[in-house]
Amino acid sequence: MEMNNPAPRNAIDDNRQGLIGKGINRVEGLLKVTGQAPYAYEVVEGEGGKAAYGFIVGATIAKGTVAGIDTAAAENAPGVLLVWTHRNAPRQGAWGPLDAKDRYGRASPQMGSNRVDYYGQAVAYVVAQTFEQARAAAYLVKVRYAPEPGEFELAPARGKAVKPPDEPNQKTDSLVGDFASAFEGAAVKVDSSYTTPCHIHAQMEPHATMAYWKDGRVVIHCASQLLESAQQAVAGTLQIAPDKVRIVSRYVGGGFGGKLPVYGDVMLSAMAARQLNRPVKTALTRQQMFHFTTHRSDTMQRVRLGATADGKFVAIGHETWAHSARFDNFMENASLQTRTLYAAPNRMTTHRLVKLDLPIADSTRAPGEAVGMLALEQAVDELAEKLKLDPIELRIRNEPAQDPELNVPYSSRQLVACMREGAQRFGWRNRRAEPAAVVEGRWWIGMGMAAATRSNFLMPSKCNVALDRQGVLTVRMAMTDIGTGSYTVLTQVAAETMGLPVDKVRMLLGDSDFPETPGSGGSWGAASAGSGLFDACTNLREKLARKLGVAPAEAVFADGRVSGAGKSETLGALAGTLGLEASGEIKPGSMAKKFSQQAYGAHFAEVAVHRDTGEIRLRRMLGVFAAGRILNEKTAKNQAVGAMVWGVGSALMEEAVVDPRYGFFANQDLAGYHVAAHADIPAVEAIFLPEVDDKTNPLKIKGVGELGICGAGAAVANAVYNACGVRIRQFPLTLDKVM
Ligand code: MOS
Repeated sequence: MEMNNPAPRNAIDDNRQGLIGKGINRVEGLLKVTGQAPYAYEVVEGEGGKAAYGFIVGATIAKGTVAGIDTAAAENAPGVLLVWTHRNAPRQGAWGPLDAKDRYGRASPQMGSNRVDYYGQAVAYVVAQTFEQARAAAYLVKVRYAPEPGEFELAPARGKAVKPPDEPNQKTDSLVGDFASAFEGAAVKVDSSYTTPCHIHAQMEPHATMAYWKDGRVVIHCASQLLESAQQAVAGTLQIAPDKVRIVSRYVGGGFGGKLPVYGDVMLSAMAARQLNRPVKTALTRQQMFHFTTHRSDTMQRVRLGATADGKFVAIGHETWAHSARFDNFMENASLQTRTLYAAPNRMTTHRLVKLDLPIADSTRAPGEAVGMLALEQAVDELAEKLKLDPIELRIRNEPAQDPELNVPYSSRQLVACMREGAQRFGWRNRRAEPAAVVEGRWWIGMGMAAATRSNFLMPSKCNVALDRQGVLTVRMAMTDIGTGSYTVLTQVAAETMGLPVDKVRMLLGDSDFPETPGSGGSWGAASAGSGLFDACTNLREKLARKLGVAPAEAVFADGRVSGAGKSETLGALAGTLGLEASGEIKPGSMAKKFSQQAYGAHFAEVAVHRDTGEIRLRRMLGVFAAGRILNEKTAKNQAVGAMVWGVGSALMEEAVVDPRYGFFANQDLAGYHVAAHADIPAVEAIFLPEVDDKTNPLKIKGVGELGICGAGAAVANAVYNACGVRIRQFPLTLDKVM
């Protein structure tokens, strides 16, 4: 089906079994907690005997060439099967192309030459009988470098920024009205600049691969969010047809955008398995992940807001500078949400790319909004203070009637409802507008809030369903579950649509041999894969109804039976010995253009700032969200709370620190790069307002995976200001910046 019209009332609306929305436990939860759900590196199956183990040697310079490399000691070390460098690595496809439609499907050659373009880049690869032997031998590889000076910092290189090309559906810059004059003449103004640092994904499961060849085809178990992209990337790198590549990612221990691409562990394992004719496993160490995989670019952002004395925006400007690797072109689109969030007759947004000699920057949870909102939502708070207006009231006064840039209605938008509900529940009326007004012992106490918004997407997705004689429905999709709950919410959709209990659905995901989906990314997974599944189930219902001799519209599916026109039969009996299959497909259609689609929310935070040390502690936090129909209140809440925790981390702790002398992240482990721990996170609550959006997709849902991080850190930053009266615009907000 194609999404060209509002979705009609359907089985999901009827929710006869009450499964949709219900917070059922994860269907694969037992397997995971009992260690029976193998992640890529744990997979033991494979053709060609026992697995060998690879270890990657990373460059210890950020830019230059390998001038000499001595592998003799490594080659003679115990258990070593293979040592590759740029001198003997297999020939591979060239990097890119840069303008590829699918940036995650680009070829990614390893050790294609003696060039070093970033710290940690693979300069050698060792395979041995055991992991320990491979790692020990890897340390015996002696590399002599000819280093070259590089540029590693955004600020000093900003003058060399370039304008990235427009994307098909998204211009790099926007200009509406006369921003410059309107800002100049505005009665009340804010002109603030913010910086956000590099962030890493810090997934629990590191990138890892188990590869083997079978019948001229490579089977790759790896940690991937997008199986088709991984398949393309491997095919392009190894110079083989995509159908000679099978990607399997049944369980993925966190993605956050860092597993949208696949990396050298995948390519090298696949090539080594071919050469050695046995399975090869390669995992990255936690330290390697900092450089050998992607990270979120740091940004510099300037936000200018001009308003009338009664708080109507007349001018909104948001400019972003962010880095990409010199050989890449990824842009952190931090100004994008500013085009749609608030109304103003004069608006200007820009994005500029600064090419640096750092590892590849790429998508990280809510690319764009996650750090764009840190700036925008603090600027709005600054403006509210100048206007002596409550920040919620200021936002309400600037609530647009329709999308100010696209000039189309919103599919649904409950930002105001989220702010009001949150204010009520959080006790916002107790907030003192003047900063540093509340003191408890040696602590200042403050409250802050911020809006949340994240774009909503629907992508093409296919599905196959097969019903057997026992009435068991087997679903096949090349979809992934990166810990978000895909297995569970898709099971709920299938079970509810077919009138089957949850335990009669077998959800098979994570295999590129299954029908194509857009995978997990951009918060579109549940909507896209779920809609393809819904279409397949709808087609299966039609077949079953016809078999029973009932008009499909009259057929009722409940309790494992289909009934109508005085007849009733079990699904299993109708499927018969041969079983019954159906396929389905969702295509985006024109609704995405007819309506501006976002999910919304409001964050509220209370912090304490120590008067002597400047230490900042979060005391409590609430997020109120409206994201269409919620498929599973428990998994949705998990997503929201997890994202809010990352928002707190972005505000207060997370920073991959670039050493400007050597061009690497100096704090390259989870001791030096602090991810919020339990002790950092007291009461965090997330709730969802009722919403059903028939413009988005047949399930009438919106993406929830990234919404919760958007604006979360800004609410914390605004609370810090309210607590102590120090406005910090350089993230993270550490105690030294308070003093
Ligand atoms: Mo998301 S950063 O698109 O996985």
